[in-house]
Amino acid sequence: MVSIDPSVLAGIDLSQMPAHVACVMDGNGRWAQQRGLPRIEGHKMGEHALFEAVHGALELGIDWLTVYAFSTENWKRPPDEVKFLINFNDDILLRRQHELHELGVQMRFVGRRDWRVPKRLIRRMDEASALTRNNSRLVLTIAFNYGGRAEIVDACKSLMAQGIDPSKVDEKMLAKHLYDPQMPDVDLMIRTSGEFRTSNFLLWELAYSEMWFTDVLWPDFTREHMAQAIYDFQNRTRRYGGVHA
Ligand code: FPP
Repeated sequence: MVSIDPSVLAGIDLSQMPAHVACVMDGNGRWAQQRGLPRIEGHKMGEHALFEAVHGALELGIDWLTVYAFSTENWKRPPDEVKFLINFNDDILLRRQHELHELGVQMRFVGRRDWRVPKRLIRRMDEASALTRNNSRLVLTIAFNYGGRAEIVDACKSLMAQGIDPSKVDEKMLAKHLYDPQMPDVDLMIRTSGEFRTSNFLLWELAYSEMWFTDVLWPDFTREHMAQAIYDFQNRTRRYGGVHA
């Protein structure tokens, strides 16, 4: 089995790992275009990188990994690409859920389950969650038809539907109405492909996250890049709005 290069691992303090790492898997289309291939070929290669990230998280002992598979804005892409991405997510879950299960990964999903998400894919997500629900090595959350603003709007709707007195609403209560109330705040967000944006990803959960950007395109992302991001994370000072002596 391929493992993280020991020279990269050496600099990392395994007792000080971020609890939650989130990835914007960006650059699949450009990876393909650079090679004169159709964009979907880049997404196909992105599957390998996704598993690199999962193995990196497992090797490093990260508890939560969240990936942005499809955003509420991605419906604006050409219909063929949207169709491909929907089927591709379904296909990855079908082909690889048992492998993830064997690895001890618990799969969760966040995002709006509206009419645009095919019932077949919803069933597949529920199947993968049920299969892996008792696993505890790593929680892998897939954000599908996800938008950070939509999540906050949906949390507000949920509060109002329950008739909660506005004077009782505080940050802790709102957080309990997000898609996954158990999801911890993100400690480290990784975005590939040289773009420096959050793009509506986990807006609430990213409030105090460290951001790590790389020019590497997602299909080229490896567990070593994950380790490098953790190394850099451990060499930053998080102040959460306060001051450090
Ligand atoms: C962004 O690249 C990538 C996506 C919109 C999709 C990524 C999805 C996967 C790798 C599959 C995930 C599947 C599961 C089940 C987790 P882009 O198309 O925006 O690239 P570009 O910026 O170069 O155009």
